Amino acid sequence: MAAEPQRLENMNRETDLLIIGSGAAGLTLALRSADFARVTVLSKGDLHEGSTFYAQGGVAAVLDAEDSVESHVSDTLTAGVGLCHETVVRHMVNHSARAVSWLLQQGVPFTIKSGQTPQGGSKPGPGQGLSSLHLTQEGGHSHRRIIHATDATGKAVFETLHQRALAHKNIELLENCTAVDLVTQRSEQGPKSCVGAYILNQETDAVEAIKARFVALATGGASKAYLYTTNPDGASGDGIAMAWRAGCRVANMEFNQFHPTCLYHPHAKSFLITEAMRGEGAKLELPDGSRFMERFHELADLAPRDIVARAIDHEMKRLGCDCVFLNITHQGGQFVRQHFPTIYSRCLEYGIDITQDRIPVVPAAHYTCGGVVVDERGETDITNLYAVGETSFSGLHGANRMASNSLLECFVVAFGAAESIRERLPGTALCQAIAAWDESRVTDSDDEVLVSHNWDEIRRFMWDFVGIVRNEKRLDRAHRRIQLIREEVRDYYIKHRVSNDNLELRNLALVSELIINCAKQRKESRGLHYNLDYPELSPIAEDTILEPPQFRPG
Ligand code: FAD
Ligand code: SIN
Repeated sequence: MAAEPQRLENMNRETDLLIIGSGAAGLTLALRSADFARVTVLSKGDLHEGSTFYAQGGVAAVLDAEDSVESHVSDTLTAGVGLCHETVVRHMVNHSARAVSWLLQQGVPFTIKSGQTPQGGSKPGPGQGLSSLHLTQEGGHSHRRIIHATDATGKAVFETLHQRALAHKNIELLENCTAVDLVTQRSEQGPKSCVGAYILNQETDAVEAIKARFVALATGGASKAYLYTTNPDGASGDGIAMAWRAGCRVANMEFNQFHPTCLYHPHAKSFLITEAMRGEGAKLELPDGSRFMERFHELADLAPRDIVARAIDHEMKRLGCDCVFLNITHQGGQFVRQHFPTIYSRCLEYGIDITQDRIPVVPAAHYTCGGVVVDERGETDITNLYAVGETSFSGLHGANRMASNSLLECFVVAFGAAESIRERLPGTALCQAIAAWDESRVTDSDDEVLVSHNWDEIRRFMWDFVGIVRNEKRLDRAHRRIQLIREEVRDYYIKHRVSNDNLELRNLALVSELIINCAKQRKESRGLHYNLDYPELSPIAEDTILEPPQFRPG
């Protein structure tokens, strides 16, 4: 019998593994660890309110006999424009079938080829059932290799893993709990280690500490730094900001991915039109009905995402139009409704019948390719601190993530992190005590407009100055503005009681500064970073790695 998610009442609690974030990465790590550890999973809003729930296209995996690991690796390296870490790419792709088998075992209802049923009953073993899955196609992939649950893959994954987690006696799920900062300790000669975190309970407004043997950041990305985004509201880069403040390196933040096709409609907030629609034959068109992607890349509408987004941006600026159009009407009503039921009904709500009408689309910030530096098992620079999923930088995505490699990374790195924690658990003790949160010098906020104004201002200038096309002048302007806002945010933070809004602003301001600093360091154009003053690709491909002031190697 599934239990309800709990509320944080006894705040001075302890756990073996504290996972901050309840998306694909956090829930996978929880389920893979709960047989040997007590696990606490936090979400700052409802448990489903991460990007995972909204994922549409699917999970990239080598499952087809005609496909190969080499081909998936090669496509990923091409999309990443020379910056992917090849050993990491190989690791992820080699583990893709294992990850999908596990998801099938959990019961994720992936779409199957018509006329087939998953083999092996409700619990197919590794490898079983894989050949019955329907595979779709997305940009940059040279094969059909995307498994999916129609056009609502993330919802199917989240709901399945969530039900599993609710039913597991070793997992507690806490909603409306915002992690404020990590707690670290350093023994005299030893490395810095993470021993827990301070958490804001939004129901009581109290900040309390949770002690943990291990902490994992699974907080998703930072695309909320941009005015227009496909991401849900909480994507404010909290994990990246917390890790940076604690002393972890952060890399490649300049590579924020813009998805080419977000629905353009005044009442549609952040609604994605999946790339799989182009995989199933949809074409991009200008307002006059002409096609344009052939002029930009040999793969036309299925070119890697950075190229398609930049092409749309270019055409919109050239023609002065508000959007371009995606046309799938030629596929017929039955095909469209069967493959894209979610998009069909959502667009219908806005008066667009996608079986008859073209879909107005614009690019929007979608995915944070950079993040907290980790290895293949999610281990960070701080002992006992892990980062998994979009908040991390594993080296998989390079300068441009290939479609549907993100969920794959969530699963594979979470598997590795769970193995690492299992090995290290017996030798890792809880810390003795964490100091109580000090509120003696703060007051209640009396000027919330400072928070909302700075939030809006950051997102506006990040969109205008650090967006799809950049130049040195725009980056310098963004840099000057973020310095000022960071100072104001710091001043506000130390004087006022924390709230979810001011915590998010504090984190958003910091990750925006990290994005700008990375963008200013890269004196070339590569993948998602396009700088008009440095339009060429440098012959040397290097990550941008930022070290926080308190970073100490080893
Ligand atoms: P998320 O799913 O974003 O979860 C983050 C969690 O962290 C949430 O529970 C949130 O509440 C919590 N959190 C954040 N900050 C705090 C804090 N301070 N304290 C406590 N909790 C916190 N990728 C693919 O591979 N295939 C796709 O088809 C695909 N489609 C996408 C469609 C959309 C619309 C979007 C937005 C993304 C899509 N992506 C896709 C990307 C992919 O969905 C995400 O990268 C992935 O789901 C991230 O999972 P995650 O577990 O890292 O984080
Ligand atoms: C999509 O469905 O287009 C999104 C896929 C992704 O971001 O990987």
